[in-house]
Amino acid sequence: MVKAVVLGASGGIGQPLSLLLKASPLIDELSLYDVVNTPGVTADLSHISSVAKITGYLPADDGLKKALTGADVVVIPAGIPRKPGMTRDDLFKINAGIVRDLVKGIAESCPKAFILVISNPVNSTVPIAAEVLKQANVYDPKRLFGVTTLDVVRAETFVQDITGEKEPSKTVIPVIGGHSGETIVPLFSLAKPAVNVPADKYPALIKRVQFGGDEVVEAKGGAGSATLSMAYAGFRFAEQVIKASKGEKGIVEPTFIDLNGVSGGDAIAKETGVDFFSVPVELGPSGAEKANNILGSLSEDEKKLLEPAKTGLKGNIAKGIDFVHNPPPK
Ligand code: NAD
Ligand code: LMR
Repeated sequence: MVKAVVLGASGGIGQPLSLLLKASPLIDELSLYDVVNTPGVTADLSHISSVAKITGYLPADDGLKKALTGADVVVIPAGIPRKPGMTRDDLFKINAGIVRDLVKGIAESCPKAFILVISNPVNSTVPIAAEVLKQANVYDPKRLFGVTTLDVVRAETFVQDITGEKEPSKTVIPVIGGHSGETIVPLFSLAKPAVNVPADKYPALIKRVQFGGDEVVEAKGGAGSATLSMAYAGFRFAEQVIKASKGEKGIVEPTFIDLNGVSGGDAIAKETGVDFFSVPVELGPSGAEKANNILGSLSEDEKKLLEPAKTGLKGNIAKGIDFVHNPPPK
């Protein structure tokens, strides 16, 4: 039996993500939570003739607790999205508190669930989640993931212009670092099968993956950021976590984790000087079972990309941790 929960289920990501989860044969029970509109979204999805039994809750009458009780996987796309001209860090003021309070709920109601954080800025919201879980004495770093799959999906898609590969998702491209601008480090030199990115096309390709989010924000002209591609990416990652938890072997996905709590991660933390970082992670029944250190295999260009990524991440991570210990006055 697998129970999945979506927190922020009525939003631009939450609705299509809930649709994909409802349709998945991997899920037996799906619970939706949001501060608005969950009854309507739940009623609508409940007419789909898939296996998952669906329930939906608003905050009233202990709705968060009811949604979370018995959860195996909790996906969090709750929070405000960007408008043109904003950075992801501009979302911190509102989203930091939303993620903190939702993770407090997880600590109380389903402390052993896998937690998949989508809410931006991921570079800070994942450290926030970690600190909240630590304060509640229920922290298992192997079960906390920042979802960076959209960066991987973008890398697969955008390199297609060069490879001509008919099925872009067949080209596996690790993307490491964080999830915003220069903290996103795509590793085309490690693509499988190998891709040959011509030197004159390389800078634009890197920039497009790093700033792909801006492309969507601009195109939506104030109506939000990526939702449908994120729902696809979030579902793809959730599916892998669930499959691995059921014992499927050989599943490796880049994800933003607490390096010091995952086998193999401490060496990467030492090498980068950063505690939270996205690397390809071997997933298994207990979650993030091994962080793969691929830093030694980077090209010279990729090593250069790593420097601003590390600097940006250090600030974003420290800001998240500080928010939990020194919350701003209400
Ligand atoms: P949205 O505004 O369409 O939806 C957000 C939902 O969260 C809304 O339904 C809102 O009611 C709900 N919400 C707000 N406060 C809540 C709370 N306390 N509890 C439960 N629900 C709450 O936004 P969106 O486009 O779905 O984006 C959501 C978040 O995901 C944003 O922060 C965005 O930046 C982020 N995002 C991350 C990635 C990624 O790659 N990790 C990609 C795209 C978007
Ligand atoms: C993305 O990468 O599309 C998301 O992080 C949303 C954003 O703000 O760009």
